[in-house]
Amino acid sequence: MSKVIVVAGAGGFIGGHLVADMLRQGFKVRAADIKPLDEWYQVHRKADNSAGPLMGDVRDYQNCRRICKGADEVYQLAADMGGMGFIENNKALCMLSVLSNTHMILASQEAGVEKFFYASSACVYNADKQKDPNVTALKEADAYPGLPEDGYGWEKLFSERMCRHFREDFGLHTRCARFHNVYGPNGTWEGGREKAPAAICRKVIAAVVSGKHEIEIWGDGTQTRSFMFIDDCVKGIQRITHSDILEPINLGSSELVTINQLVDIAEEIAGIKLNRSYKLDAPRGVAGRNSDNTKIQGYMGWEPDTRLKDGMEKTYRWIYDEFVDKYDASTAHKSSISTFTKGSHPIPGDGFNPESKNMDTWKQGIPAGYNARSTPKPAKAKKAPVKKKAKPVAKKGKAGKKKGKRVGAR
Ligand code: NAD
Ligand code: GDD
Repeated sequence: MSKVIVVAGAGGFIGGHLVADMLRQGFKVRAADIKPLDEWYQVHRKADNSAGPLMGDVRDYQNCRRICKGADEVYQLAADMGGMGFIENNKALCMLSVLSNTHMILASQEAGVEKFFYASSACVYNADKQKDPNVTALKEADAYPGLPEDGYGWEKLFSERMCRHFREDFGLHTRCARFHNVYGPNGTWEGGREKAPAAICRKVIAAVVSGKHEIEIWGDGTQTRSFMFIDDCVKGIQRITHSDILEPINLGSSELVTINQLVDIAEEIAGIKLNRSYKLDAPRGVAGRNSDNTKIQGYMGWEPDTRLKDGMEKTYRWIYDEFVDKYDASTAHKSSISTFTKGSHPIPGDGFNPESKNMDTWKQGIPAGYNARSTPKPAKAKKAPVKKKAKPVAKKGKAGKKKGKRVGAR
């Protein structure tokens, strides 16, 4: 009998790729996401998809119970998250992901699943160890004493800890990976949640398309990061889940670059040189961050090894196609508009809808009805009937042009 795999957050970047890989291996996959199906980055028709606030919200315990019942392995990737622009301005929202993690692990325990994977982050690491761009790569022990990224990092550290205690107290097979900035095709590239690799690709593409050879970089460009290509991430998730590694482990590239060097790479791919300006008051995060891969090498003789140049090439090409489908020379400047500043609508999937009754509630603070079952239907509800999941989902491109959504052929 084929294993039953649950992926929560399957409409997102990493979840979409993970579902694709699980289906390739012949597993039965249940995919869940709070976003309506037509907002998923990848829709795989062979998966059993629970989409939208009613069926796919894993803050809701009953949804988790339904999704996890009879499952063999659970991959908990659902989170309200993004790059520095989002997490620095939406700390309370980031912390609310604790509801998804709590209910998913509880339901997995109740269902008696074989394995539970949790997607943690390099944002759990102590900020004092990341003050220098010439950072010493972070090893797993550097998460304590705790001084993680405010909001998002604290929630991740807490949820990691919860995994540990479910393992120790209840015997649940839990595994955690600390992802270091993941990038690749089929992920967020605009809107305010995008991370540096996608943002830089988009900005370079906007310059190419508009003919305005300028780029704005957040910070002074000397801050350093390592970036992991999505294929390495998907491979690492599964290896770690099936390993004997009990404690949270780094899953990241150790190829350290400055943000200026990241821009160099994107410029080289585009065959262009841009005038750079630096926005010093933009969200910057830590000064330097790299992944110490001694542990993962020791366990597996492997570490994420896709060269940044190669991964960026694939990412740039994908974002380019998305970009020119939506913008032209006269509208390219609009691609820099962020919908996710402080106080903007927080729920992925219901977002971008100014008519939503939740808008005012959220602006006032934690909403009384955060449980999506009590969320009123938006006036202009998107078509996402579960019955139609077998058909390719289409979205409108520019000038009303219909654009085929990537639908897994599997
Ligand atoms: P993503 O935003 O593309 O995907 C997350 C998905 O979770 C989204 O589609 C969102 O709609 C969904 N979601 C949010 N709240 C939900 C809820 N209540 N119920 C169901 N679905 C919900 O992000 P991603 O890059 O694919 O990240 C996946 C996981 O990896 C997240 O837990 C994230 O914190 C973690 N992570 C990612 C990175 C990175 O660089 N991408 C780095 C560190 C950790
Ligand atoms: N997002 C973004 N957009 N960042 C930019 C831009 C831009 O246009 N220009 C420069 N940067 C700089 C940021 O100021 C930051 O210093 C650096 O690029 C990296 O930013 P992000 O990619 O947004 O985030 P991060 O690396 O600090 O943190 C990300 O990775 C963590 C895991 O390592 C986030 O996605 C976290 O959510 C994630 O957990």
